[in-house]
Amino acid sequence: MGSKLNILVVGGGGREHALAWKLAQSDLVGKLYAAPGNPGISEYAVCVPLKVEDVTGIAKFAVSESINLAAVGPEIPLCMGITDILEEAGIAVFGPSFRAAAIEGSKVFSKNLMRKYNIPTAAFEVFTLYDDAVSYARALGDDMWVKASGLAAGKGAVYASDPDVAERIIRGMMVESMFGESGYEVVIEDNMRGEEASIFAVCDGKTFKTLVSSQDHKRILDGDSGPNTGGMGAYAPAPVIDRNMMRRIEREIIQPTLDGMAAEGIPYRGLLYAGVMITASGPRVVEYNCRFGDPESQAVLPLLKGDLAEIMLSSAQGDLSGVEVGAKTGSALCVVMASGGYPGTCRKGFPVSGLKEAGEEKNVKVFHAGTALEESRIVTAGGRVLGVTAWSDSLLEARNCAYSAVDKISFQDAFYRKDIGYRALQKQDTEDRSQKSE
Ligand code: GLY
Repeated sequence: MGSKLNILVVGGGGREHALAWKLAQSDLVGKLYAAPGNPGISEYAVCVPLKVEDVTGIAKFAVSESINLAAVGPEIPLCMGITDILEEAGIAVFGPSFRAAAIEGSKVFSKNLMRKYNIPTAAFEVFTLYDDAVSYARALGDDMWVKASGLAAGKGAVYASDPDVAERIIRGMMVESMFGESGYEVVIEDNMRGEEASIFAVCDGKTFKTLVSSQDHKRILDGDSGPNTGGMGAYAPAPVIDRNMMRRIEREIIQPTLDGMAAEGIPYRGLLYAGVMITASGPRVVEYNCRFGDPESQAVLPLLKGDLAEIMLSSAQGDLSGVEVGAKTGSALCVVMASGGYPGTCRKGFPVSGLKEAGEEKNVKVFHAGTALEESRIVTAGGRVLGVTAWSDSLLEARNCAYSAVDKISFQDAFYRKDIGYRALQKQDTEDRSQKSE
């Protein structure tokens, strides 16, 4: 590779902090910028106050600063077509085109793609009429998901235990506009049973390379109870995805998805995130996302061996063949510290203390998600405030290090789950016991 790259990270959450942190470790990177970034990201990048929805403003900025590569974090600018706009301006982009981002932006598109190309997923039907949707839910009986087709900030998939619940959800989406236009078209699908994991594949339009698997914790409370959130923690790798299962997912899900997209004339570049349920009959897609997961990235990226700038540029240029992705041994675990009230309305603006002490721990990185700088103090500025991440040879050690760092940090009304990684740790514990008794 020739001269150094000027890179713009689009986004300002924990995922983008992890991306900027990893990019800053690359020798290929010249100047690093972030739009809008956050106080954590500002350690490596010049942060510019542009909202992620301001795709034309971001494009103007990218041209004026001679950006070579844009690394887009969130789905909103991708679904608004930021890739196409930047590429037209001659800037390479890590992220799918407007049409390809429909894999996340339209559940109807992605479910029909899966149906057409025999990619395993839950049985489903699509509805644009309220009465038809309710009749179908009644015929289905119990145990189903009602999903708004469009983007709904991670809240658009709702479980319905019986048809009455389903009817209320359908009314909320299709009649009462709870997700605006995103909910006027719905997918109703069977519930799948099993353990879910997140699979990240870097794609170049034809081929892909997978990163280590991960698992997030979407519910607010320990033991996976309470309302859904954007994610209260994550760990990587997920033991439910052993080597054979990963090969199976690559063969039965990732490659057919890329082939299907190419056959539709919409080659997929960037990060394909497949949420996969490991059912008794094999892996099945729960949903696709068109970007890195948050907070999974905070656990996956510390284990990435390859050079993220090189990986992203090669994906953007449509040829991953010469790139080594690789994975470090060991495990990483991220605990999200949230503001009181999250995922509902929360009070913000409270000073955060202990960041320096926590960050000085070995193999620990505190990723900022919702923070702001106020009179030279870091204060809370969002629901999810920090992603406290640690990595080590074992998941148990990574977990202990992450929680020991969490103990050093405080802010008013802070809360976090105490059981991040419990599923994998229980599994390991059971395996250890059965080995000892053999
Ligand atoms: N952690 C779930 C997501 O990023 O969509």
